[in-house]
Amino acid sequence: MKALFLAGGLGTRLRPLTENLPKPMALVGNKPWLEHLLLHYKKQGISEFVIAVKHYRQIIESHLGNGTKYGVRIDYAVEKELLGTAGAIKNAEPLLGDRFLVVNADIIHQVDLAAALRFHAVNGGAVTICLTEVDDPSHYGVVEQESGGRIVRFVEKPKKEEAPSKRINAGIYIMERRALDHVPAGRAVSIEKETFPLLIANGSGVYGHPIGGYWMDMGTKARYRQLHWDLLDRRFPLPIDGKDGDEKGIWCGENVRIGHGVLFVPPVMIGSDVTIGDRSVIGPYAVIGNGSRIGSHVRLVGSILWDRCKIRSGAQLNECIFGSGMHVGPHILHEAVCNRILEVQRQ
Ligand code: GTP
Repeated sequence: MKALFLAGGLGTRLRPLTENLPKPMALVGNKPWLEHLLLHYKKQGISEFVIAVKHYRQIIESHLGNGTKYGVRIDYAVEKELLGTAGAIKNAEPLLGDRFLVVNADIIHQVDLAAALRFHAVNGGAVTICLTEVDDPSHYGVVEQESGGRIVRFVEKPKKEEAPSKRINAGIYIMERRALDHVPAGRAVSIEKETFPLLIANGSGVYGHPIGGYWMDMGTKARYRQLHWDLLDRRFPLPIDGKDGDEKGIWCGENVRIGHGVLFVPPVMIGSDVTIGDRSVIGPYAVIGNGSRIGSHVRLVGSILWDRCKIRSGAQLNECIFGSGMHVGPHILHEAVCNRILEVQRQ
């Protein structure tokens, strides 16, 4: 069975980090999320992938290529115009088989695919939507189910008090090709707003399968940050490269040079080829990307730096997220989110 990753959205809520980067390529634990996703599904037995994109195809392709280096095959289904979440699947149809997996590539999760496939096969529906439970479902697509799991109603972003349940669309679907007969070609179609309500109404059979485990939509800056704190607290069991991590809460990559009197306050994740100057204080909750240079007397708290950032001596960063290649002067910054095309303002 093939897996289709939807990776073509604009990622507007995560700007400026996604100003020049597809959201699924945002680093999670110092590696693009899309790579983690590929490896997760490879482990579950999938060896053929299709990535649906429009923007920044080259950025994804130059990192993942045709999959050879991961021992899998990757094809790209490219949209001329953004076709929405169902339109993108329809566009990829010639590359897919009779039954296939669809994953919103900005969803952080781990799924027992074999269990989901068994559920899908037993029920025989056109679509199985994987479900997760959240306290406040008002930002998501909420489902109402019968006892056997069949979905009878799908409500997109209801008011909290009007939500029929706390079970939401987790952004992972198992689909039969026949479901795509109900998706018009050549125009933008939303799977959440158009296709699922239609398939439920016409009796095609849409079932919901709770997946449990960690789940996070990384679409906003607050959730992107929270995801990292969950990773460092090991609430999300993604493997992290680096020694010492689980014992001391300080993950450290290869070739890290640490100056005199540097204080690490766990949990902290440091990539490879990183330099940290004298008497800097790193953490708690700090992630430093590969190839970054941190000056002396820097204070880095609750912040995430992507690759090759340069932080000048004396800077103090609190709750910041900086994209790859950012150079930061000796500023005091709180809650700044920047990538390299933006000027960092003194606060
Ligand atoms: P926002 O602009 O912040 O809402 O983000 P988004 O539109 O990129 O993401 P959204 O949460 O709406 O979409 C869920 C997933 O579907 C993401 O992985 C997107 O990359 C992907 N996606 C959304 N729209 C499209 C589309 O038109 N084409 C393709 N190929 N993927 C899409």
